[in-house]
Amino acid sequence: MYESVSYTIDNSIGIIILQNPPVNALNHSVRKGIKKALSEAIKNNSVKAILITGSGNKFSAGADIKEFGNHSESPNLPEICNLIESSCKPVIAFLNGIAFGGGFEIVLAAHFRIAIQSAKISLPEIHLGLLPGSGGTQRMPRITGVEYALDMMLKGSPVPMENAYSVGLIDQIIDDENSQQSSINYVKEVISNKYEIIRTSERSEGLKDENKNRNALEKNFNDLKKNAKGLFAPFKILECIEKSISVPFKDGLEFERETFKNCLNSTQSKGLIHAFFAERNSKKIPEVINTSPRNLEKIAVIGGGTMGSGIAVAALDAGMEVLMIERDHEGLSKGRKNVEDVYNRHIKKGRISLETKDKVLERYFSSVDFNDISSADIVIEAVFEDMEVKKEVFKIIDQEARDGAVLASNTSYLNIDEIASSTSRPNDVLGLHFFSPANIMKLLEIVVPNRVSNDAVATGFALAVKMGKIPVRAGNSEGFIGNRILRTYSNAASYLMEDGASPYEIDTAVREFGYPIGPFQMLDLAGGDIGWANRKRLSESRDSLERYVHIADRLCERGWFGQKTGRGFYIYKDGSRTGIEDKEVLKIIDEERSKKNIKPRKFNNKEIMRRYISAMVNEGSKVLQDKVALRPSDIDVTKLFGYAFPKYRGGPMKYADMYGINNILRDIQEFAEDDPFFWNPSDLLKDLVKHSKNFDNLNI
Ligand code: NAI
Repeated sequence: MYESVSYTIDNSIGIIILQNPPVNALNHSVRKGIKKALSEAIKNNSVKAILITGSGNKFSAGADIKEFGNHSESPNLPEICNLIESSCKPVIAFLNGIAFGGGFEIVLAAHFRIAIQSAKISLPEIHLGLLPGSGGTQRMPRITGVEYALDMMLKGSPVPMENAYSVGLIDQIIDDENSQQSSINYVKEVISNKYEIIRTSERSEGLKDENKNRNALEKNFNDLKKNAKGLFAPFKILECIEKSISVPFKDGLEFERETFKNCLNSTQSKGLIHAFFAERNSKKIPEVINTSPRNLEKIAVIGGGTMGSGIAVAALDAGMEVLMIERDHEGLSKGRKNVEDVYNRHIKKGRISLETKDKVLERYFSSVDFNDISSADIVIEAVFEDMEVKKEVFKIIDQEARDGAVLASNTSYLNIDEIASSTSRPNDVLGLHFFSPANIMKLLEIVVPNRVSNDAVATGFALAVKMGKIPVRAGNSEGFIGNRILRTYSNAASYLMEDGASPYEIDTAVREFGYPIGPFQMLDLAGGDIGWANRKRLSESRDSLERYVHIADRLCERGWFGQKTGRGFYIYKDGSRTGIEDKEVLKIIDEERSKKNIKPRKFNNKEIMRRYISAMVNEGSKVLQDKVALRPSDIDVTKLFGYAFPKYRGGPMKYADMYGINNILRDIQEFAEDDPFFWNPSDLLKDLVKHSKNFDNLNI
């Protein structure tokens, strides 16, 4: 009857069904449809009650995020919720599946709520830097009290029906089978006045215990001060909930509306919404259009070290059959131990049972004989980071793998074309750059060398999806997207250190910006020896104009590789993972400064971050210019999910747009006065500034 909503009358029941597949997002057309259907149902004397439900197997996944920004196009969702609540005829929401965000706010506004057993509700707005802005913050506490409402809104995770029922959010749970008939039966009971109609705005059971509510507010506020430092939306949710217990409903709604708009206009929400779309878009790459991935059931992993074991676990968790190949039996048993340790930790934390572990490991095989890889659909090499070793390994893989198997390297920096050239089938070879720990980290860089075929690339993307990873397409350039940019801003951090900031000040500034740890803590965690080996490898090809800081080398020369040796930039006492500052490190830094006649300067946090971020953005811009990344948002995804860039800042390229790329260019030009070699602005950046464009204009 209407574009995105159907309206029918059956047995005196006006039935409104949201029809906007796949998730019944509440876009403008749906909202218009609901309003029209509601007013017809109210006008029609033969209609005694109104049932709202969703088509397919979902009620609604909430607002249409693409519409954010022009959200106020009438009727907006708060209006719809108010219309539903003020209806003179009883409105029953029937959850035939998930009701998330705005979808659940509609449900809250109805007079009765029934749901199938398998339905789920959630208010996930916080993940986009927002709050429930259609009355949710005012209606929900009136039913559940403050504590439960805050828990749901601050976590933003789905709640199962038994739980929702136990706090009164759902009036009746019905069996999934015959649910339509059961829902109609419930509405008939409503029509026969079996249940008292109380509007949610008039409910008060959740408000009765004022002390308990105040305590919950205070406790959450203190927790947020500790754990959500710098974040905007969580505190705003708290303010709105406070209004629900202190001011009349109508005033609370107004406050919520204003606060919602403030959140929507915040840079944090813009960053989070950008990250949401960036993550979705990274899967859209030219190679996968009109291409089907190859078969993906059996995987062989070469190398059972840190990465090989992590990849093996990721594959096991994805339901694949896994074969691990090592050099010798000692290597194999270490590899197996690495894999088993992951599941043993799960058991210890009560996440899985021993039987589950045993069941999973039935799919795990290991061998020292490369012959055994012959049935694998995909082979991933994760041996030492050494071109000659990798080429040797690929020669053997080439001999043993079956025709059509995808052959991948997990190298962090090395040239995939060169690796591919050691095989007779470069069309099957690509880079699959996992991050450590590979079973946990979401990012998977898929490196596309010159001669690889599209369906091999599509298979890499399919593997990522199967493993629940976020794939990003990267060109074959030293360090690809992530490590190439990392190297540049790590250099910026070293220069800052040599010029006067201590590693501890730099780490603090980076943490204040929103990273969980700073670059020197990260170095200590990853192990200083890896970077040291790399620097030695590159020393011959290093440009003589490039400024080189020796401080990290000096620590490595002393065997201070970080956490694993108990000492790096920090001291780790008795195996502790939290480092303490080291005066001797500061002395070594001073000595290095003296050797170069550098008089240390003071840098505040802002100055540190200006350098750190401009270096990151400038290299990102060069990565784009060199077509190593397809679009700026792919760089954002890489940094967000592989390098812990704070999500609410959207990623470095989005951050640059919000900071103003003209300001980034100005900063770079200012720093270039001291070191024009390093601070050499990318042509693309200059071009964008010249034409008053930004990185977002390049997102496709
Ligand atoms: P690792 O040293 O922990 O493990 C390498 C394993 O490969 C060892 O167990 C070794 O016995 C085995 N191996 C060496 N030659 C072999 C051969 N011919 N046949 C079978 N097995 C062989 O090294 P890690 O850290 O796991 O790194 C592996 C690769 O992954 C490297 O290319 C590295 O650059 C890359 N990578 C490392 C990351 C990290 O954070 N450690 C992150 C992303 C990539």
